[in-house]
Amino acid sequence: MTPAASSRMYLSIIALLVIVIAAMAWKFIVAGSTLPAADGRIVVALAPGERALLLREMRGFVSGLQRISDALARNDMAAVATASRAMGTAAAHDVPLEMLGKLPLGFKKLAVGVHGGFDAVAADAAQGGTATRTLGQLGGVLGDCVACHAAYQLAVPEPAR
Ligand code: HEC
Repeated sequence: MTPAASSRMYLSIIALLVIVIAAMAWKFIVAGSTLPAADGRIVVALAPGERALLLREMRGFVSGLQRISDALARNDMAAVATASRAMGTAAAHDVPLEMLGKLPLGFKKLAVGVHGGFDAVAADAAQGGTATRTLGQLGGVLGDCVACHAAYQLAVPEPAR
């Protein structure tokens, strides 16, 4: 093979690899693993264990919100901060990398918004924020819960046998 021909071959191989890597990155970061849902939402196709992990986190949100409203009624801002921090960004680190790759970008953005929102609520409550201000901030965070449920659902699981 002439030097020109072999460098052309190497360049083609490099170009091919770049395309493959870009396609994989797009799938992992942007597209995730999704299907259209019958009701117009997007189904995020997760393995049963991943689905269980996500739904466990969701139920954790409800019980965290229960603790926050209870603490707000008593004007216990330290307890508001503790309950809110437990749902913050640090809690999101449990998600395995493989599962992260199945979540579409819009889903990840809303998840980051909710966790970051709870961090902000915790920081404000710990620094003298009032109960009324916390309620206003929670309204914003809950808007992301609503937006995600309106856009996404999980694949219906096989019944346990
Ligand atoms: C990034 C997307 C996203 C965000 C943000 C989100 N959820 Fe969810 N949640 C889901 C999906 C998807 C399901 C499964 C719904 C389905 O399959 O129909 C779900 C299910 C749930 C469930 C049902 C749990 C179960 O065991 O069946 C509850 C409760 C819930 N979410 C509460 C919340 C609350 C409260 C918030 C905000 C603090 C929240 N979610 C934020 C995506 C999200």
